[in-house]
Amino acid sequence: MKEIEGQLWIENIPVINLAREYGSPIFIYSAEQIKRNFGKYQSEVGRNDLICYAVKANSNLHILKLLSELGSGFDVVSGNELKRCLKAGADKNKIVFSGVAKSNEEIKLAVENEILSINIESYGEFQRIAKISEQLNKSVNCALRVNPDIAIGSHKYIETGSKTSKFGLDSEAVNKISDEARDNKLVNIASVACHIGSQISDENLILKSLDVICEIADNLSLNGHAIKFLDIGGGLGIQYKDEKEGDPGILMAGVKNRLEGKEYKIILEPGRSIIGSAGILVTRIEYIKNAGGKKFAIIDAGMNDLIRPSLYEAWHEVKELENREISSDTYDLAGPVCETGDILAKGRNLKILPNDFVAFMDVGAYGSVMSSNYNSRLKPMELLVTGDEIEVIRRKETFEDLIALES
Ligand code: LLP
Repeated sequence: MKEIEGQLWIENIPVINLAREYGSPIFIYSAEQIKRNFGKYQSEVGRNDLICYAVKANSNLHILKLLSELGSGFDVVSGNELKRCLKAGADKNKIVFSGVAKSNEEIKLAVENEILSINIESYGEFQRIAKISEQLNKSVNCALRVNPDIAIGSHKYIETGSKTSKFGLDSEAVNKISDEARDNKLVNIASVACHIGSQISDENLILKSLDVICEIADNLSLNGHAIKFLDIGGGLGIQYKDEKEGDPGILMAGVKNRLEGKEYKIILEPGRSIIGSAGILVTRIEYIKNAGGKKFAIIDAGMNDLIRPSLYEAWHEVKELENREISSDTYDLAGPVCETGDILAKGRNLKILPNDFVAFMDVGAYGSVMSSNYNSRLKPMELLVTGDEIEVIRRKETFEDLIALES
């Protein structure tokens, strides 16, 4: 994404041209930006370390394929995310499976496919895995996902590592699983994992969690487990407004420093920092209206397309796509959904007229994946731009798609 003479371009194409040709609302991604973001990690990790892109951030098959071709592994949180990765040509041996509620079917799928690691989040899950591996007579590599009890100070909905969150194992469960797994020939504990939350600016918080899991890994090793990996999760933040961006270089320098003399390989699970800045949502101004002394720009994208502002009061920059020589005004940008909370941006100073297009920036992560059909709205088309090339990587839904399962 770049601006040339006040106009927004995505790689070699003015965004306004794409909006005019393909319509709105529409998600557009830059392949080059994804490569750049991935490259920032790749140039910092050691030869044996592994970047497992967090599929939940954006699970489009084309994006998974692109990342797989760059050498990325994947962090999945459902059987269907695992199936997406396999369909996109991912290396099974680079897939880790997180999540607190893995079903029997999902565990079976993971064991059958011999993925790199199932990250265990409860004693009950360990028992399920043990039973399934025995039934299939297949060995399985697992991680103990622990809860390091570290608060990260981002939105409370995206903190995951505090003691009372639903994620990860407490020390009692770690000990219990460690004892039972030692006598189990099929379930190998090969890794210790954690993920303390998302949109983290301070790399030291993640390093603090590394200290916790490293100590646990050392204890497990003393107890007879062959621990190969430390999985420090994802979480580095990006700059939406004025936040400090997390830096993979600073993170990995700290990791190397701490692991000096130890044999562990590192697994990283970045999502937002890979795909967040690579995506925009283009929407059209339907109407401009006044209400109680306030100006609303009513847009054709709603909270069903981009839920982050309504759910987390998240801020996304809005850029005009036309170069209007008019005076600016202050607007709330409201969507078509019949909910008072369907406001995607508040108090923005913009030069806009009805029918103009604007772009919401940095929506590549947790944008399209969190969209819904609320109000029977059709999910937007998705485009991937590579240089001059445009690929429709998800077509726009139709009314027939919408009712297909209801006949
Ligand atoms: N690994 C695990 C186990 C996770 O739960 C997550 C994200 C990640 C990795 C990737 O974290 P990231 O690098 O993207 O921060 N919907 C929210 C974010 C939820 C994050 C959930 N877990 C948002 O829109 O801000």
